[in-house]
Amino acid sequence: MKKQLFLLILLANGISFSQAQRKTFAQRADSVLKLMTLDEKVGQLNQYSGDWAHTGPITKDGDKQTQLRNGQLGSMLNVMGVQHTREIQEMAMQSRLKIPLLFGQDVIHGFRTTFPIPLGQAASWDITAIELAERIAGTEAAASGIHWTFSPMVDIARDARWGRVMEGSGEDTYLGSLIAAARVRGFQGKGIGNTDAVMACVKHYAAYGAAVGGRDYNSVDMSLNTLWQYYLPPFKAAVDAGVGSVMNSFNTLNGIPATANIYLVKDILKKQWKFDGIVVSDWGSVGGIIRHGYAATYKEAAMDAILAGCDMDMESRAYKDHLAKLVKEGKVPLKLVDESVKRILIKKFELGLFDDPYKFSNEAREEAQKNVPAHMAAARDLSRKSIVLLKNENHLLPLSAQIKTVAMIGPFAKAVKDNLGFWSMEWPDDSLTIVTQWDGIKNALGRNTEMLYAKGCNINDTDTSGFAEAMEVAAKADVVIMSVGEARDMSGEAKSRSNLHLPGMQEALIKAVHSTGKKIVLMINAGRPLVFDKAAAQADAILYTWWLGSQAGNAIGDVLTGAYNPSGKLPISFPRTEGQSPIYYNHLNTGHAAASDTINFYVTGYIDLRNSPAYPFGYGLSYTGFSYGDIKLNKTTINSSGKLVADISVTNTGNADGEETVQLYIRDLAASVSRPVKELKKFQKIFFKKGETKTVSFTLTVEDLKFYNDQLKYVAEPGDFKLFIGTNSDNVKETDFKLIK
Ligand code: BGC
Repeated sequence: MKKQLFLLILLANGISFSQAQRKTFAQRADSVLKLMTLDEKVGQLNQYSGDWAHTGPITKDGDKQTQLRNGQLGSMLNVMGVQHTREIQEMAMQSRLKIPLLFGQDVIHGFRTTFPIPLGQAASWDITAIELAERIAGTEAAASGIHWTFSPMVDIARDARWGRVMEGSGEDTYLGSLIAAARVRGFQGKGIGNTDAVMACVKHYAAYGAAVGGRDYNSVDMSLNTLWQYYLPPFKAAVDAGVGSVMNSFNTLNGIPATANIYLVKDILKKQWKFDGIVVSDWGSVGGIIRHGYAATYKEAAMDAILAGCDMDMESRAYKDHLAKLVKEGKVPLKLVDESVKRILIKKFELGLFDDPYKFSNEAREEAQKNVPAHMAAARDLSRKSIVLLKNENHLLPLSAQIKTVAMIGPFAKAVKDNLGFWSMEWPDDSLTIVTQWDGIKNALGRNTEMLYAKGCNINDTDTSGFAEAMEVAAKADVVIMSVGEARDMSGEAKSRSNLHLPGMQEALIKAVHSTGKKIVLMINAGRPLVFDKAAAQADAILYTWWLGSQAGNAIGDVLTGAYNPSGKLPISFPRTEGQSPIYYNHLNTGHAAASDTINFYVTGYIDLRNSPAYPFGYGLSYTGFSYGDIKLNKTTINSSGKLVADISVTNTGNADGEETVQLYIRDLAASVSRPVKELKKFQKIFFKKGETKTVSFTLTVEDLKFYNDQLKYVAEPGDFKLFIGTNSDNVKETDFKLIK
């Protein structure tokens, strides 16, 4: 109850801007613009990193300090904390026009309170809980002097080799779009003028997740149809939710660098979608235009980027060094520079920084946001909702209260920082709250259960000297809990992997412990889907725990003991082998579709592997079971103004209360562009008491049947459809309906 009240307060406070206020901000921006020299204008488009350190000087770079005092910088990233941001802002206040700086920071899964990695959060399918996580992250960051976060990352990712799958919401466009909007709402709260909100930045625009071979920063080559159908909608959802900024991606899209891509930025984002916030380059991506072989010099790169609509240059210094010259030479219209400057000034007005540049510099507020119990409670809640139960033979979980001795084995059992995962904030160790898995489980099991420990091996080396001890400890226990996975820097930016197996000797450790004959609960901590077929066969129960953050141990303890019944569902398909990548449920049927999931010749597939993934999109078990009745439609035809209501009765058939995410997919059987075999269109996460039956009802309209045709028009075409409802993308009931004119 207390938690709910807190949630309401968090989601309801604050102010938002009226049309009239927006107009005033624009007028005030114009009045500043009129006073600015060309150099000062270019300065606003220039962003540097702050050489920030926990204890050291904020920026040692004398040159940067001079530029700040000369008004040659519009924004800094990686300057955090009230004290540091204030010191830097004071330098900017010595400039002629005293235009305040924007402080940006990557707040990817929490600020002081670390939440599960975004991919893990997506496994909760709990949009409200995700919004709350960002509300908290935004509140904590804003209290530390931050105005702007480079989040949410909404890149659709179908390839687990790509390290940045951890930062997004997985492979599905519909789920990803809902989460994109929720994250924006969470960060920006009731408006970015509030001191508990930060401006969000949706990234990386666009199609970065489709890097060839899953190699980070690699080229992207895709049809415009695929771009519009699958990769752009989460960005559009963020824009519709009012996101204040957009970040270019590093990749080329069909040969043109995203940062210089007129079609993407100027035409789609700014013209068609009427996005009026800031477009910022990615780190050095203006300079990257040269390395892509699209521009010969920094000067040309600066021209390409500004002409395409990139307003701010992050760390390339190409605008700073060349933009004024380009304007003077008539190669870049001054009007264009003015437009970019105005976008930035408007955000500074919206944030209230012209009225008070130190608005976000309040020590007491900063202090009050450290270790907030309600924030930790929200992290625990989202962490346990993010855990996915992949296997549970003979109901090994939840652990019986009769168990006397538990052995905890593996490099994650007592790990501390590896629970946080990549893109977590670096705080001094003494100000970190991390509940280790060992502590959380020990607390949850209580004093009557004896816990034994052996590390067994490290995460990623060849040392097997701990195996003997691990086996000894296992032999003494009733049940073994093994916690294995990827180190926190093995997924994330520049962390693509060709081998998705558990690193180091961890598979061998599982095999060794398995040879003791003890029952094994396997927990896998990782930033991406891993390949663990052998380990999966040796484990009796498997929990996929991603990297859960500050409350990892407590959340895992709740799940192991059944205090929380797991409800997570995979937001991304898990390949059987690396060779299956990319793999995704919403693929096309092809002209040689396999009739069954067995190896067959002259069908789409491999001669040495089945087509299905190890675990499909939407998959996740519960301690209870759910049975689905047949789908009942209110009618079997709809027209463009009609509503199709699909009802299904779902029963909790097991012995525990639990939540089920009921998923609805469709397939358009014949269309002017081939449509996928299944596409998620709706879902509901519903709580069922044990034995309870509920009718779950979904309403579809023609909007849900639309797709981009080969003219890139968003249309619904009359014809036959299939409708599926089920517990994951592979296990569904189905029926048919028709769309008529
Ligand atoms: C990443 C961005 C990030 C930026 C600033 C880049 O390397 O691609 O996602 O926001 O750095 O830290």
